[in-house]
Amino acid sequence: MSKIVSEEAVITRRRDLHNNYYSLTFGPIHSLSACRPGNFVHIKLPTSDIYFRRAMSVAAVYPDTNELEIIFRVFGRGTTRLATFRTGDTLDVLGPLGKGFAKPRKSDRVICVAGGIGFPPLFYLASDLVQAGFDPKKIEFFYGGRSAPDIIERSRIKKLGLNFYPVTEDGSVGRTGLVTQFVRDMIENGRKEKFVLYGCGPEGMLRATNQIGLDLSVPGELAFEAPMPCGIGVCLGCVVPLVKGGYARVCADGPVFKIGEVVL
Ligand SMILES: Cc1cc2nc3c(=O)[nH]c(=O)nc-3n(C[C@H](O)[C@H](O)[C@H](O)COP(=O)(O)OP(=O)(O)OC[C@H]3O[C@@H](n4cnc5c(N)ncnc54)[C@H](O)[C@@H]3O)c2cc1C
Ligand code: FES
Repeated sequence: MSKIVSEEAVITRRRDLHNNYYSLTFGPIHSLSACRPGNFVHIKLPTSDIYFRRAMSVAAVYPDTNELEIIFRVFGRGTTRLATFRTGDTLDVLGPLGKGFAKPRKSDRVICVAGGIGFPPLFYLASDLVQAGFDPKKIEFFYGGRSAPDIIERSRIKKLGLNFYPVTEDGSVGRTGLVTQFVRDMIENGRKEKFVLYGCGPEGMLRATNQIGLDLSVPGELAFEAPMPCGIGVCLGCVVPLVKGGYARVCADGPVFKIGEVVL
């Protein structure tokens, strides 16, 4: 595995995905060969009033051009600033960081549970599996949001050929309700299947996905978020409590943890 590199990377493409969601593609990223679904990069904003880097999951990699894509939602000061950068601008990108998702077995039926801006790492996971020859019809991609504009990149997800289930709380697209209730139904109705769960999203959604895994004895992994001052395991600013006792660093021991591993 190649080492973590801090690189001055040029923004080669910027897309406004509407409703405050943006995609930025950076290149060249020389450490790309080490990148796996679930990894993230830590981006330095060149301004003196935003000191800490911001963690962003890798949403896609383009090995032919050595490019890497992130997708983010404008939330606070950091992401507001990030959204001001344009094609041709340069940012300091540190990565790839963290421990990625474990690969499913060929016989597994993969269930991705994405919530809001938890979408990027699961999109990368699903794309990577399909590209590696995993049967797309054995991937159930659940994507929950409050309303239709929160379910971004729909045509791009559909292009992968997997089973795609958008779910919105207001019913403006897909099924109506919370995404996790449909995930639970699918597993309960398919008792003979060897399901494996992968989740990323807001804490409530992670908690519900974790509980589904525990209740129905389905293995899986969840990608966590935490404030990340250093991003490389040194400062202990990102720790989460573990069920077995003690703490783990989200940046270096995660951000991906097994279902049942973290206290939620
Ligand atoms: C592993 C990981 C992957 C992520 N992937 C994505 C993604 O793909 N897309 C996405 O939109 N978001 C992602 N996030 C969240 C993202 O990093 C931002 O924290 C979030 O969007 C907050 O936005 P902001 O920086 O604009 O908020 P701000 O309001 O600027 O910051 C929120 C609060 O957190 C504090 N804070 C912010 N960053 C740090 C830090 N590095 N260390 C300590 N404190 C900090 C700020 O001081 C402030 O109090 C990810 C986070 C993690 C940990
Ligand atoms: S952010 Fe410093 S240890 Fe994780």
